[in-house]
Amino acid sequence: MANSNLGLFFVLALLGIVELEASHHVYKHLQTFQSSSSANQPYRTGYHFQPPKNWINDPNGVMIYKGLYHFFYQYNPKGAVWGNIVWAHSTSEDLVNWTPHEPAIYPSQPSDINGCWSGSATILSSGKPAMLYTGIDSQNRQVQNLAIPKNLSDPYLTEWVKSAKNPLMQPTAQNHINASSFRDPTTAWLGPNKEWRVIIGSKVNRQGLAILYKSKNFVNWYQSKTPLHSADNTGMWECPDFFPALLHGQNGVDTSLNGPNVKHVLKVSLDDTKHDCYTIGSYDNVEDIYTPDEGSVEGDSGLRYDYGKYYASKTFFDNVQNRRILTSWINESSSVADDIKKGWSGVHAIPRKIWLDESGKQLVQWPVVEIEKLRANHVSLANKLLEGGSVIEVPGVTAAQADVEVSFEIKDFEKAEVLEPSWTNPQLLCSRKGASVKGSLGPFGLLVLASEGLKERTAVFFRIFKGHNKYVVLMCSDQSRSSLNQDNDMTTYGAFLDVDNRQHKLSLRSLIDHSIVESFGGGGKVCITSRVYPTLAINEAAHLYAFNNGNQSIKILELNAWSMKTAKIN
Ligand SMILES: *[C@@H]1O[C@H](CO)[C@@H](O)[C@H](O)[C@H]1NC(C)=O
Ligand SMILES: *[C@@H]1O[C@H](CO)[C@@H](O)[C@H](O)[C@H]1NC(C)=O
Ligand SMILES: *[C@@H]1O[C@H](CO)[C@@H](O)[C@H](O)[C@H]1NC(C)=O
Ligand SMILES: *[C@@H]1O[C@H](CO)[C@@H](O)[C@H](O)[C@H]1NC(C)=O
Repeated sequence: MANSNLGLFFVLALLGIVELEASHHVYKHLQTFQSSSSANQPYRTGYHFQPPKNWINDPNGVMIYKGLYHFFYQYNPKGAVWGNIVWAHSTSEDLVNWTPHEPAIYPSQPSDINGCWSGSATILSSGKPAMLYTGIDSQNRQVQNLAIPKNLSDPYLTEWVKSAKNPLMQPTAQNHINASSFRDPTTAWLGPNKEWRVIIGSKVNRQGLAILYKSKNFVNWYQSKTPLHSADNTGMWECPDFFPALLHGQNGVDTSLNGPNVKHVLKVSLDDTKHDCYTIGSYDNVEDIYTPDEGSVEGDSGLRYDYGKYYASKTFFDNVQNRRILTSWINESSSVADDIKKGWSGVHAIPRKIWLDESGKQLVQWPVVEIEKLRANHVSLANKLLEGGSVIEVPGVTAAQADVEVSFEIKDFEKAEVLEPSWTNPQLLCSRKGASVKGSLGPFGLLVLASEGLKERTAVFFRIFKGHNKYVVLMCSDQSRSSLNQDNDMTTYGAFLDVDNRQHKLSLRSLIDHSIVESFGGGGKVCITSRVYPTLAINEAAHLYAFNNGNQSIKILELNAWSMKTAKIN
């Protein structure tokens, strides 16, 4: 794959690709808009990606090719619940407005006849994309397959051909891989000996595994003797993602880069708890071993991309803007019956730029800058005192579809409540001390998707505590009063925010979009995404407020809010 002058024919031959007869393309026009099963759709998003109807889950094979962003995702063409999974496909010039295409990969071979599950794109050394994905074969085993574009001159890459050698990796009697726990190949990376490497999520009993395979030609893969990494008692690892991050600055780098200026990140989606957790560490590309940094916590109590609903995420390197971008599926929090009634389930998060914090101890995330072109009707407040117990409305924006950024100034840190030593679980602490539980320094923050009179509201806020030898900032998203409909999962989410208290400043941004709220605390050090289904606070009846339910005043240094224009979300 090193010679960039290889003709397509030769590449096809090299990859063992045979063209399939496109005689069973059964999903024609499935993305053409049809009115949903229910006319009243207050929960559909205005700028978060979703198809017109049906079930979606994991993002797959996200990449940039010939200046176009390609987004594939798990999709059920036949209904609003999981099943019949194909790779639906959309493209975009700006990660904001999307054009749908026919499904790119759908069951057609014995190695994927029962489903085309998640996988990732690799840009081969010649600039040509290749997809590795999990197929459910005719014996219902999970195996790994390859597909490549049929016509590399077509920037939309609408047609994909599968390798005749599929499956390329499979469970056998010799390798002891569990055929029900072997899925989601990552983007492959090149090691020093010009061999490709890829990891696949798995488990043995309760031990989560990142099984490593290597290949010189992307077709013949062999299993490495040891996994890249494993961790006890973490359960099945889904959708692993493994990438380098620069020690300094916000730029992203190619997945194959290694050296003294980078750390490596291993993210796994924990099937048991449905959380995307990561560690930061070092990758020895001679031994092919990843070692998390000392002090890293593995598994569910470790670092998370997002402390709300956020699962099966995947990053890619955008080599045009030199950034690494994170995409993710956001599941519903409504009942299956309600999903069927509304005719759809699942949205995708706003793509986030992701980089290593200066501390080297965590990642930082921020919505891609392109999303800001949807901003309209700018409203701002500055130097406004939020007295203890006050609620002030932010008027003049469409509060059901908005972007709001606020920075607070905290004066009297000494007044903070004492953090009890047993309060180690931030989510539990947020649910015990929700937005209506009065405090000293906080709770203060935003009430979003709120009804007049606050019968319904989602509260995104901070609370400051005096810890053992430092102040501790808790960030919460309290959904307990988000809807009068009690059939929804209204779990409160929370996390501790590691910020420098000496600044006396705390920032919060929330992207609000009808049934989703994506919040970024401390400039993107803690992210919390929630799904909410207000019954009163819908469309024009939704309001936005700033609040302070502590007994100490907090100053709003600056608040900027915008209505968000509707994007072409598919
Ligand atoms: C490949 O795509 C290009 C650009 O869309 C198009 O002009 C050409 O006809 C396509 N070739 C084939 C064989 O379909
Ligand atoms: C294989 O994985 C499946 C799915 O998690 C599990 O039910 C089964 O017990 C596993 N089998 C073995 C032999 O570990
Ligand atoms: C999706 O949400 C439903 C309902 O809240 C929940 O039962 C399920 O576990 C969630 N799945 C994931 C992957 O988050
Ligand atoms: C403020 O609230 C804290 C925590 O509830 C309490 O300990 C403190 O006495 C209150 N202070 C005033 C002046 O009410």
